[in-house]
Amino acid sequence: MAKKKPNKAKAAKGKAAAKKSARKVVKLARAKKPAKKANGNGLPKPSSKPYGQAGLALQGVRILDFTHVQSGPTCTQLLAYMGADVIKVERPGVGDITRGQLRDVPNADSLYFTMLNGSKRSITIDSKNAKGKEILERLIKTCDVLVENFAPGALDRMGLTWEYIHKTNPRMIVASVKGFGPGPYEDCKVYENVAQCAGGSASTTGFREGPPLVTGAQIGDSGTGLHLALGIVSALYQRIRTGRGQKVLAAMQDGVLNLARVKLRDQQRLAHGPLTEYSQYGEGIPFGVAVPRAGNDSGGGQPGWIVKCKGWESDPDAYLYFITQAPVWQAICDVIGEPTWKTDPEYATPKARLPKLKQIFARIEQFTMTMTKFEAMELFNKHDIPCGPILSMKEIAEEQSLRTTGTVVEVDHPTRGKYLTVGNPIKLSDSPADVRRSPLLGEHTEEILTKVLGYKLSEIAEIKNSGAITAPDKSKAAA
Ligand code: COA
Repeated sequence: MAKKKPNKAKAAKGKAAAKKSARKVVKLARAKKPAKKANGNGLPKPSSKPYGQAGLALQGVRILDFTHVQSGPTCTQLLAYMGADVIKVERPGVGDITRGQLRDVPNADSLYFTMLNGSKRSITIDSKNAKGKEILERLIKTCDVLVENFAPGALDRMGLTWEYIHKTNPRMIVASVKGFGPGPYEDCKVYENVAQCAGGSASTTGFREGPPLVTGAQIGDSGTGLHLALGIVSALYQRIRTGRGQKVLAAMQDGVLNLARVKLRDQQRLAHGPLTEYSQYGEGIPFGVAVPRAGNDSGGGQPGWIVKCKGWESDPDAYLYFITQAPVWQAICDVIGEPTWKTDPEYATPKARLPKLKQIFARIEQFTMTMTKFEAMELFNKHDIPCGPILSMKEIAEEQSLRTTGTVVEVDHPTRGKYLTVGNPIKLSDSPADVRRSPLLGEHTEEILTKVLGYKLSEIAEIKNSGAITAPDKSKAAA
């Protein structure tokens, strides 16, 4: 992969312009509530308000959101669900590229965009316009965190270097998603599947006989966004002690590797012998130098596999994941009708079973094919046998319990109508999730300029004329 040189001239120009406008900016103090009387630990007295009525976890935190596509927006959407005021900056007339990608409803923001940008406010600013830079400087002064996932060097080229930001607001945390951390690939652009491949997931996913596979779960993008959110919250916590911001970096390769850590565990185990829980061991196929793909083998010490259920011939999701957990082996034998396996030395111990897993799962499958995945789930769970139905996205979308917990939420959008989104997967007992629809492009521009940044209405007209918040007029450009 070729290295892209950062454009130093562009960056220097941006920096100089930003410094100049910084001097003009009025001082904007964030309204702060007086701190309640602290106890010996420096904490306020426990609130006497009922749980769920003491505000939201991240209330009072303001995020300057420069993210786009998926990884960064996942992070800032979660922070917004937790109560942060997320101000998404988008290019006038263009916006986040995903607004128009994979559109299902003509002229409406796509689900790609709407499902990743809920509960945020949108302001349009041309970050390369002089007036736009001035507005951004005010935002930097009034926000706690800047989050971005531009290609390497892009933020610097806007003049928003760490040095400039830190000087403008020493308390600001600057959080970035990049494809790679420092090293040979640090200047490369990266998308989801590149990260899955570079982070060790693809080489260990799929069937041994087939090519590497990427997973449907977006572990490179959404996974890294989650990592970044934890980094931001930790930096906010440290700032309470230090009073200063810091840089937070979540590289997609690192995030994927973190999620694939059991495979790095297995890589090291290989030096001490074959991986006995992989079905390849039972099949007598030798291991190579690297961790192989393991099909549907379970990653832990409890062997598992996917087995067919009733209707599998026509329903691609009529399957069950079945785990032969050692402590419930006796129950498994009774339920599937093989009681002699309980005492037969060929089957009675986990070690004895390892070379026979293929045959054992074939017998279990014979049994599960007589019932639906839901019937099988009910039956096995009565005996505490761990298993799970393979749920299609249709089944998940229709699952009432996920709606009840707020994990799947229906929201109403002014141009596209009702749509389903994933709500907050993390539940806090004292902080209800704030899940709202995504904003239209620039929907909150004037509101933020006046109410957050203190611009007067007369100044707004001037800003509009400068081209800082509106798309260039194409008819004028053509004339
Ligand atoms: N006003 C003016 N210009 C703006 C702007 C605004 N409000 N917002 C963005 N831009 C400009 C940037 O300054 C940049 O310009 P420059 O390259 O001339 O300096 C340009 O838009 C494009 O930004 P970039 O991030 O390079 O977008 P891209 O479409 O070329 O690349 C990615 C997309 C995702 C590959 C790249 O952003 C990336 O690698 N990001 C880090 C890893 C990541 O998050 N990947 C997963 C994405 S889900």
